[in-house]
This record gives sequence, structure tokens and C-alpha cells, in this order.
Amino acid sequence: MSARPLGVGIVGTGRISDLHAIEYLAHPGARIVALCDRDPALAAGRAAAWGLDDVAIEEDIDALLARHEVDLVEILLPHHLHLDAALAAIASGKIVSLQKPMAISLEQADRLVDAAEAGERPFKVFENFVFHPPVIRARELIAEGAIGSPLSIRIKSNPGRSDTAWEVPESATAWRQRTEQSGGGPLVFDDGHHKFALAWHFMGEAQEVHAFIGHSEWEDGYWLDAPSLVSFRFPGNRIGNIEVVHSPELEIDTRHYAQDDRVEITGTRGVIWINCGHGRLGDPPPLALYRDGALTEYRDLETGWEQSFVLSTRHFIDVAARGGRPVLTAREARQVLRFALGAQESARAGRPVRIEVETIPEMP
Ligand SMILES: NC(=O)c1ccc[n+]([C@@H]2O[C@H](COP(=O)([O-])OP(=O)(O)OC[C@H]3O[C@@H](n4cnc5c(N)ncnc54)[C@H](O)[C@@H]3O)[C@@H](O)[C@H]2O)c1
Repeated sequence: MSARPLGVGIVGTGRISDLHAIEYLAHPGARIVALCDRDPALAAGRAAAWGLDDVAIEEDIDALLARHEVDLVEILLPHHLHLDAALAAIASGKIVSLQKPMAISLEQADRLVDAAEAGERPFKVFENFVFHPPVIRARELIAEGAIGSPLSIRIKSNPGRSDTAWEVPESATAWRQRTEQSGGGPLVFDDGHHKFALAWHFMGEAQEVHAFIGHSEWEDGYWLDAPSLVSFRFPGNRIGNIEVVHSPELEIDTRHYAQDDRVEITGTRGVIWINCGHGRLGDPPPLALYRDGALTEYRDLETGWEQSFVLSTRHFIDVAARGGRPVLTAREARQVLRFALGAQESARAGRPVRIEVETIPEMP
């Protein structure tokens, strides 16, 4: 741990910043020292809500990057701004955590991989779902051989309605409706990043993807890219799919987005179910394992979705202090992005798209 806490600067103090702040506020090795938003009143409001009275408020990312007390920059901006913000942060010598997706095209992703790998300091793409406690436990069980060899992954993404969800400002919805800013639809590309990341996390890189991406009216004149179905093949005769269905009258228990996520992984001798993501439907076990005729429920897991942010942030503070491989590296995030963009390409072309599988070398 360095002598003084890591100075954290957050760029973009919109909806999701509340979940990034939790661990930075709690961890003895970090301190939020600067906030930046083009709406400084919003940033000042966040500072007050987080109990920070000695934090700098900037309207411009360059002003935040010029601050020597900022060691680590957390970039929480609309997707079309990710590339320039991340390049500037790397160039200024900061440690960088960039929210997903890393960029909105492979060309942009390549530039970011080059810059991140040439940079001296840690760079991470923030993909929190792989840090969700039921996902962590499922991966441990699979590594222990609990289901044998995984053969398929089935992911359900199911937004609905919720009386308990947090409020999402209209501005946060509006940019997601403009694909030149978001890079793709709100469910299959934006939220879908987490689902492609889960498939990649459990099964590795897909070699072929075949997608139908639907379109439906939502509310207040907005649209959703649902119903949609993305299927894929992995090397070794393994398969998977992501199904996205919007159920407008389905009540979902959540403190965040009105969305439920369910995952089923089938192996040669068992099956694992992850029954919660953003929210949950009733009280199923967050994780369940069937094997050798017996069903085991794992109910002693933390399921609050914010835990995935807490653990992801804690991991990166540790990497910044002690070194090690960030999750995700830029190159790993490029693989997830390529998977997601492959689905879009397939839906546009109406045919399967092949993806050249690449092995990421171990970090020195
Ligand atoms: N991991 C997750 O589960 C998850 C969930 C939600 C959002 N996200 C990601 O977080 C990021 C932000 O999403 P959000 O929902 O908080 O969006 P948001 O619209 O609520 O917040 C974006 C903020 O950026 C500010 N901004 C825009 N342009 C700016 C500029 N040039 N300089 C400074 N500030 C600027 C806006 O004023 C706004 O406050 C996106 O990458 C999104 O994909 C991830």
C-alpha cells in the first residue's frame, strides 16, 4: 500500500457513479479527490451526497487530469466519449479504470489496446458482472469440476418494471437511444456487454455468432432492441445463447435497474444456475448446483448487485497498490467487444459471423 491513499478522480458523475463511489469511500487505501462532469451542479450534488466536502469539482476532463493529486481516473461517460477520455488519461500518466464497453468500434478498441499496453500504469475495463458473488462462486465450482466439462451456457436478460428500482434520469436513457453515441441498442449492446462478458468468462472466446436483434416500442417514445436471440459456438463443440425479452408487467425486486438476469451452465455431469443479476424474481437460491442426483442450493452469498462494483473496485485498488493483472485487461475487453459487435454484424447481415479465436498471452 502506498504511503498516502490513492487519489481518485471520477469523470462523469451520472447514474452509475453512486455504485463506483461505495468502495472508494470505504477503502483505507483510496480517497476521492476530484469529480468532473459537464454539469458541475450534478458533480457537486454527488460530492454532498457522498459526504465529501474537500473534493475538487471540474467541468473539463483535462482540468481533472492536470491535477497531481489524482492518481487513478474512473471514466464513467457515454460510450462515444470513452476513447478520447481514456487516451487522454493514459497519456497523462494516470492509472485508468474505464467503464464498459471500452469503445464503440474495433478500430477504436485497437487504439486503446495499443495505448494501454504501451502505458506504464495499470489500465482496466470495468466489467462488474464477473465480480458478482454468485458468479465468482459458480466459477470456483466449475474449476473444482462440479459440473464436469462445461458444454453450454444459456443467459436470459429480462427487463421488466419495478416499484423498488432507483430513478434513472432521462438524460441517461436519451444517449443510449442514439446508436452513434451508445454503439448499439440498450439491451443487446449496452447491457448486453455484461452478458457477452459472462459467456466469455465461463466459456472463453466464441468462434461463431448468429443473432436476431429485434425492435420494440418501449415507453415515452423510446425503443428497445428486444426480443432478441444471440446464439454462439465455442471451440470444442460447445454452444451458448443470450435471450433478451422485455416483460413490461413483470415486477422485479431490485434497488437498481428493473431487470432480472438468469444463467444456466450445463456440463458433462451437472448443471449450475445463477438466479440473480441486477434483480431477482422472488426468493430462488442465488446459485444452485445439480449433480449426481442431488440439488445443492447456495443461499449464503451476497446478492446485492452493488457488491459486484465493490469487489471490482477493491480488486483494482489492490492492483494499483501491489501490481497484478487487472480484470478486464484492454485486450480481454476487446475480445468481449468483438463478440458483441459480431452479434450486431450477424443481425444486420442475416447470417452467422465467424470470429477468429485468439489466445491472450499471459502477462509477464
Ligand atoms: N457496469 C454496469 O453495470 C453499468 C451500469 C450503468 C452504466 N454503466 C456504464 O457507465 C457509463 C455511464 O453510464 P451512466 O448510466 O452513469 O450514464 P449517465 O448519462 O447517467 O452519466 C454520464 C455522465 O457523463 C457526463 N458527461 C457527458 N459528457 C461529458 C463530458 N464531455 N465531460 C464530462 N462529463 C460529461 C454527463 O453529464 C453525465 O452526468 C457508461 O459507460 C455505461 O455503459 C455501467
